[in-house]
Amino acid sequence: MKVNKVCCIGAGYVGGPTMAVIALKCPDLQVTVVDVRKERIDSWNGPFDSLPVYEPGLKEIIEKVRGRNLFFSSEIDIAIDSSDMIFMAVNTPTKTEGVGAGMAADLKYIEACAKNIAQVAKTDKIVVEKSTLPVRTAEKIREILDNQGRAGVSFEILSNPEFLAEGTAIQDLFKSDRVLIGGDSTSKGKKAVQALVDIYKNWIPIEKIITTNVWSSELAKLASNAMLAQRISSINSISALCEKTNADIHELSKAIGMDHRIGPHFLNASVGFGGSCFQKDILNLVYLCKYYGLEEVAEYWHQVIKINDYQKNRFAQKIIDGLGGDLLGKRIAILGWAFKANTNDSRESPAIYVTKKLVERGANVKIFDPLVSLSTIMRDIEDYKIDKDACSISSNIDECINDVELVAILTEASAYKDLGKELLIFDGRGINKNAKFSIGK
Ligand code: NAD
Ligand code: UGA
Repeated sequence: MKVNKVCCIGAGYVGGPTMAVIALKCPDLQVTVVDVRKERIDSWNGPFDSLPVYEPGLKEIIEKVRGRNLFFSSEIDIAIDSSDMIFMAVNTPTKTEGVGAGMAADLKYIEACAKNIAQVAKTDKIVVEKSTLPVRTAEKIREILDNQGRAGVSFEILSNPEFLAEGTAIQDLFKSDRVLIGGDSTSKGKKAVQALVDIYKNWIPIEKIITTNVWSSELAKLASNAMLAQRISSINSISALCEKTNADIHELSKAIGMDHRIGPHFLNASVGFGGSCFQKDILNLVYLCKYYGLEEVAEYWHQVIKINDYQKNRFAQKIIDGLGGDLLGKRIAILGWAFKANTNDSRESPAIYVTKKLVERGANVKIFDPLVSLSTIMRDIEDYKIDKDACSISSNIDECINDVELVAILTEASAYKDLGKELLIFDGRGINKNAKFSIGK
């Protein structure tokens, strides 16, 4: 089956970059990205310097393909109906109420997409799960599509989880370690899988495109994120022991990572992992294990989150202790608000948690992050109920670190590697040589 038009529901950190790369690599394919948030679509259609997602290399691709074979639109129904294949790349946050609140993934956006597709589609569609979903979600989607779709219209559901990391999204999409496609083993299922393989094989070597059953694909994504986060919590737990024993976590990471069976990646000790996915995906995994009665397995993975919380708190406490235990009236510079370098995304950023704790203890903070917009920082301060009168936002680094008692490094941006020797620096990323305190040292 030849696919000529695809549509992607969800114009966020996944939908935007993945569809831009598909459009670039498949010039004969028409790609439309839709979203309920009109302002997001407007800004994808707006000036190239203020696209809603910052990713190195993304702007240059959008300049090439927007208006050629990549379109951003608010006309969701039209895009769905005119496409052969529909990707669902909507958010799947942790539930905040109802059964599984605080643990399970909230599937209301994915269910809304499925209903929308069912109501609008007048011809057969391949529906692709791009969002990260609990194992067996395709069953729920099938139920919605079959019960609410028009008579005579049939749907194939594929799982094609996304493995890009923010800050390196374009590089990750160009050279994916693997592309995973889960589908049914029926003849229609196999044809649908092949249609998606045909898209990716335009730039991904065929041996890197893995096809599995739907459930393996759904669960492999959750398990991959859990394994990555588990490495960070493992090294972070050891960083606390290093601090007690004069061992150096960077020397350990190097020594451990040189074992080819372990490998060097994801062994950077830090103030803790952030981002919109690791925490919510592991909580979701924990919830699924409990749901299936696997208490020990649930507890094993829950520890990854508990160590991450411990690490964020530990860093904040080091700062409090470093300033003599009393922060009243103390001024602290927060360098880095995003959850990692090279992104404008601050979702679940450790900087937010550390700032909240410092402000609660009486500190005044100055925040600097050249990639995160003022409105995003203000929204975070409000959402996390941080006293906004105790926070100011600096537009340049010199102003931020001027006239403060302590400088806290929260992201690993290279601009924070070399700061003045006279400053009292607490480094949550182990990048600054003059730091008085550095995680794991
Ligand atoms: P996001 O919040 O940036 O984008 C999701 C978009 O979907 C939003 O703009 C929202 O308005 C839109 N949306 C929600 N419901 C809709 C509906 N019914 N119709 C139309 N639009 C709708 O989220 P994201 O970071 O792009 O993540 C999307 C999914 O991909 C999540 O499941 C996430 O776990 C997964 N994922 C994210 C990353 C990442 O790096 N951010 C990487 C891999 C996988
Ligand atoms: C992560 C995964 O790496 C992606 O494969 C996955 O697709 C994505 O989650 C997702 O499902 O959303 P992302 O969260 O964008 O990507 O970024 P990472 O590079 O994984 O970093 C996550 C957090 O861990 C950051 O706060 C980072 O600073 C921290 N980290 C990472 C460490 O503290 N130490 C490390 O060694 C690596």
